Amino acid sequence: MLTLEGINQYYGGSHILRNVSLEAKLGEVTVVLGRNGVGKTTLLKSLMGVVPVKTGTIRLDGGDITRDPPYERVRKGVGYVPQGREIFGRLTVQENLAMGLAYKPGSTPVPAELFELFPVLKQMINRRGGDLSGGQQQQLAIARALAAGPKLLILDEPTEGIQPSIIKDIGRVIRMLADRGTMAIVLVEQYYDFAAELADQYIVMERGEIVQRGRGKDMEAEGARQRVSI
Ligand SMILES: Nc1ncnc2c1ncn2[C@@H]1O[C@H](COP(=O)(O)OP(=O)(O)OP(=O)(O)O)[C@@H](O)[C@H]1O
Ligand SMILES: [Mg+2]
Repeated sequence: MLTLEGINQYYGGSHILRNVSLEAKLGEVTVVLGRNGVGKTTLLKSLMGVVPVKTGTIRLDGGDITRDPPYERVRKGVGYVPQGREIFGRLTVQENLAMGLAYKPGSTPVPAELFELFPVLKQMINRRGGDLSGGQQQQLAIARALAAGPKLLILDEPTEGIQPSIIKDIGRVIRMLADRGTMAIVLVEQYYDFAAELADQYIVMERGEIVQRGRGKDMEAEGARQRVSI
């Protein structure tokens, strides 16, 4: 579904991503692990087109999207759940969800299925985003990304600062979405156990480079935990 080839990225003079290549398949969760500052968010921003890549190619479903602006990538089926959630605090839950559909002409109703995945959002539908707990905001951010029906869902540290019970709920939803086989999921995480439980494929980054990769079931035996433990 998603193929990255030889991605290089710079902020000013610093070389942030070094020759990153990876493939994320339909029906699989691809976990990207790495300590603080190794370039995980930069990788996702490059994928989303929030920062333009210097060299390399990004393909979605075979089509080259390397130079597409972010809204075009959304239209083509990329759903992005940014680090820190970036919920619109003064907009209601309903309005936040509608933002996920804003790229479509006219008004499209929010898919009812989102409320089956995250029932709490139905209860909170008229509350302001800013009044939700961190965990509820995270669920809202995921639902907003799902509103457009993405083929590729990318999530940046969805467990950050969230209580364990909601982490479990989010994990269940991610697994279920992958198991449908119609979506590829790229999950950036620092919470090793959460990542390990979901990983079909794993990738470890250090200083902008992929230093290790393999199948999720092998990641413990291959020492991925030691690579990312702080
Ligand atoms: N806008 C920017 N301008 C300059 N340097 C930046 C910018 N954003 C990030 N960096 C630097 O790029 C490197 C990679 O940052 P990035 O946010 O991608 O890391 P990360 O792996 O997501 O970290 P974390 O786990 O803390 O979220 C870091 O050294 C960071 O300081
Ligand atoms: Mg980050």
